[in-house]
Amino acid sequence: MPARDLSVPEDMETKRLRLRRARTRDAPMLFRAYSSDPEVTRYLTWDTHGSVDDMRAFLERAHDAWESGSEFVWVIEERSGGAAVGTISVRPVGRRAGIGYVLARDRWNRGYMTEALTHLIAWLSAQEGIARIEALCDVDNLASQKVMEKAGMTREALLRRRMVLPNLSPKPRDMYLYSVRS
Ligand SMILES: CC(C)(COP(=O)(O)OP(=O)(O)OC[C@H]1O[C@@H](n2cnc3c(N)ncnc32)[C@H](O)[C@@H]1OP(=O)(O)O)[C@@H](O)C(=O)NCCC(=O)NCCS
Repeated sequence: MPARDLSVPEDMETKRLRLRRARTRDAPMLFRAYSSDPEVTRYLTWDTHGSVDDMRAFLERAHDAWESGSEFVWVIEERSGGAAVGTISVRPVGRRAGIGYVLARDRWNRGYMTEALTHLIAWLSAQEGIARIEALCDVDNLASQKVMEKAGMTREALLRRRMVLPNLSPKPRDMYLYSVRS
């Protein structure tokens, strides 16, 4: 399927945010905003970035993934002021869409990610080819669990020793699986 059947917008807007396709030139901004911050990357699947080049490499992979339809990464910008404050992504696999997101620490707890995720879920729900939207989250990542619940997702399962989060531990961590029907 899948991604080939999806018509994916490069730009979307919510009340306070703009989601726009990530570009390689975003590397310095995103490195400064969040990928170099160990507090932000604690529960993520990749190592905290040590240099802008790490972010540039990530964005180059994101470019190729967008072109091939395997993953779509948007930069989250504030509509007022235009600051790049995070990213949100969708990975379609068959009729399933996996979601990931991250936000700069100085923008936490303003409802931004709930706003971005709610919008993305609404967009995905309108796509005929998508039957299920899902995301994994560390059992200790309470803020992310809250965001998913506020956006209408429900906790479906506890997956034991499911995933290594390299900034936390070399041992695979227990994760919750959240989902919503599209
Ligand atoms: C998870 C994350 C995206 C949340 O973004 P955000 O814009 O701050 O989220 P929102 O403001 O929409 O909602 C956060 C909610 O979590 C709550 N929260 C925040 N920290 C919390 C904590 N330690 N314990 C319990 N609840 C917490 C907030 O109070 C808020 O709930 P409320 O609206 O009922 O008050 C952001 O914290 C982040 O980028 N974290 C690091 C990366 C990450 O974990 N990504 C997800 C991987 S699964």
